[in-house]
Amino acid sequence: MRDQQTRNIFRTSKLEEACGPGLNPTNSRTMGEIIAARFSRRGFLKGSMAVTAISATVSPIALLSATDAQASSASAFNFPEVTAGVDANHHVAEGYDADVLLRWGDKVFADAPDFDPANQSEAAQERQFGYNNDFVGFIPLDGADDRGLLVVNHEYTNEHLMFPGIVTIKDGEIEVSDADETRVNIEMAAHGGTIIEIRRVDGKWQPVLDGALNRRITAKTEMELRGPAAGHARLQTVADPSGRKVFGTINNCAGGVTPWGTYIMAEENIHGYFMGELPEGHAEAANYERLGIPESTYAWGRFHDRFDVAKDPNEANRFGWIVEVDVMDPASTPKKRTALGRFKHEGAESVVAKDGRVVFYLGDDERFDYVYKFVTAGKYNPEDRAANMDLLDKGTLYVARFHDDGRVEWMPLVHGEGPLTAANGFASQADVLIETRRAADLLEATPMDRPEDIQPNPVTGRAYVMLTNNTKREEANAANPRVDNAFGHIIEIIEADGDFTATTGTWEILVKCGDPKIAEVGATFSTETTVNGWFGMPDNAAVDADGRLWVSTDGNSMSDTGRTDGLWAVDTEGAARGTSRLFYRVPVGGELCGPCITEDMTTFFVAVQHPGDGGDDWEGHGRPSYYEDLSTRWPDFNDAMPVRPAVVAITRQGGGRIG
Ligand code: FEO
Ligand code: CA
Ligand code: CA
Ligand code: CA
Repeated sequence: MRDQQTRNIFRTSKLEEACGPGLNPTNSRTMGEIIAARFSRRGFLKGSMAVTAISATVSPIALLSATDAQASSASAFNFPEVTAGVDANHHVAEGYDADVLLRWGDKVFADAPDFDPANQSEAAQERQFGYNNDFVGFIPLDGADDRGLLVVNHEYTNEHLMFPGIVTIKDGEIEVSDADETRVNIEMAAHGGTIIEIRRVDGKWQPVLDGALNRRITAKTEMELRGPAAGHARLQTVADPSGRKVFGTINNCAGGVTPWGTYIMAEENIHGYFMGELPEGHAEAANYERLGIPESTYAWGRFHDRFDVAKDPNEANRFGWIVEVDVMDPASTPKKRTALGRFKHEGAESVVAKDGRVVFYLGDDERFDYVYKFVTAGKYNPEDRAANMDLLDKGTLYVARFHDDGRVEWMPLVHGEGPLTAANGFASQADVLIETRRAADLLEATPMDRPEDIQPNPVTGRAYVMLTNNTKREEANAANPRVDNAFGHIIEIIEADGDFTATTGTWEILVKCGDPKIAEVGATFSTETTVNGWFGMPDNAAVDADGRLWVSTDGNSMSDTGRTDGLWAVDTEGAARGTSRLFYRVPVGGELCGPCITEDMTTFFVAVQHPGDGGDDWEGHGRPSYYEDLSTRWPDFNDAMPVRPAVVAITRQGGGRIG
């Protein structure tokens, strides 16, 4: 059992990686030795095999893709590719500007205090941009191209990068001192989301600090539980006997913007925020075990009883939902929409189907967990915003089975149907939703290699599933074709008749990721893909107004790939299908989130998350990175400022369409 201080070491970008072999009891494997090679490029080079041996393993694909192969004229993209690599700065394609728009600690309101990292407070943080920006959405105001609301999730906090004087290095590893109440409350205020008006002036975006709709949402903001599980006894707590009023949202990873202009925040790795032990024989024991609750990464439960499962055992049932925020009313109460199920929600990207119903694609980011979609019962009314505001309270949640013959089947999670009955412990639809994973287990959904963002393409009627990696997979299947899948893959779903509400369809693998030069990796990028163009660990995706796919990554590092994370343009059509090109890359230690391209395709907003979290394996640093000894001080490069996660606005020099 790790003590609190040791656990703090794990409070890094690897929260989602740190929870073992997966929690699906029907599929998780206890690993002994990992026999398969890890394909660490650096390890490979340092190993007994010399460079000549590497040449011998080069795949035919790689031989064709000579170092600086030119992208095919069949490509839908036309920009000069960025050189992959690792350094302290970010880099965008030549001819483009990447301007920092909002950094952790920046004012969200005109009267917010200036950022003072050495003397941060909860009150200041509640008025300032939060930490670890993830999802980014843009909601135009009054139909304008140059004025709108930027909505940004703040997924989690990295204390060793945020707070001075709390790290000691022991045996070459970072140890973080125990949090006091002040620190915990700052952490809670740095979570959640930001809604802020932005304007484009002379081609450059800037925040509007007196925007009437500006808002911070935190881990303490009052929210309402809605939908079939609202008010259920399993959602009632000591603090809230109604089972309908909950404070805060946590670990908001990706999200979405609905067709009616609300902001969706997905609650992902909620397990790390709970501590303590459930009372002996408690009815939620199996439910919590399936989600890894409690994991005790954060110390919030020491100062807030609701995060201690011994003191308020049902509180954890009030997290793991999809949250909807009405951004047009800064006093509105965000709604946790229980109809969309409870699991480790990566995001919720949506599309209006042919018949007017709205379909939300949902990934459950855990090794061997599932792909879902939700279809609203009601239809979207483009003429009447108010009529859409509770569409997410009624509809059908489906989970995917990917057959080896290339069919995908969407199976409804409806109480009373199939095995979802009282005999299996589901007394109502509320039970099905509270324990979505267990319901999906019984339906024999296909366990996947960590489903992240799923992006529908309204132009083609298809959807792209980012499967980030799964090094614990020992048995391959058609939809998860590699054991020890270190670099992930992307599945393309082709819904029947291009109808997003369809309950059947087909699927193909768009690309298996990784370095095509190493034959054993089995990457399948097109031969036009250059040494800069390949990537591993797809995480978020965007589809632009022309239907082109952009993919951002989480987890590339010097030792595995020789490159940082970034944003790649991926061809999906014609002869260029499977060609990838690097458009933007982040500073050392960072991850790229939230790619959001405006409807007019003139601005790409991207979120640089946890820059400086790492650098041990980069020759420019070569040791642990923390507040006093950072691998980068991006974006300020000011010794008085720590490294700061930030949202960046990418535009073409002189204006015009991106890519
Ligand atoms: Fe927070 Fe699944 O990435
Ligand atoms: Ca993610
Ligand atoms: Ca997306
Ligand atoms: Ca991720």
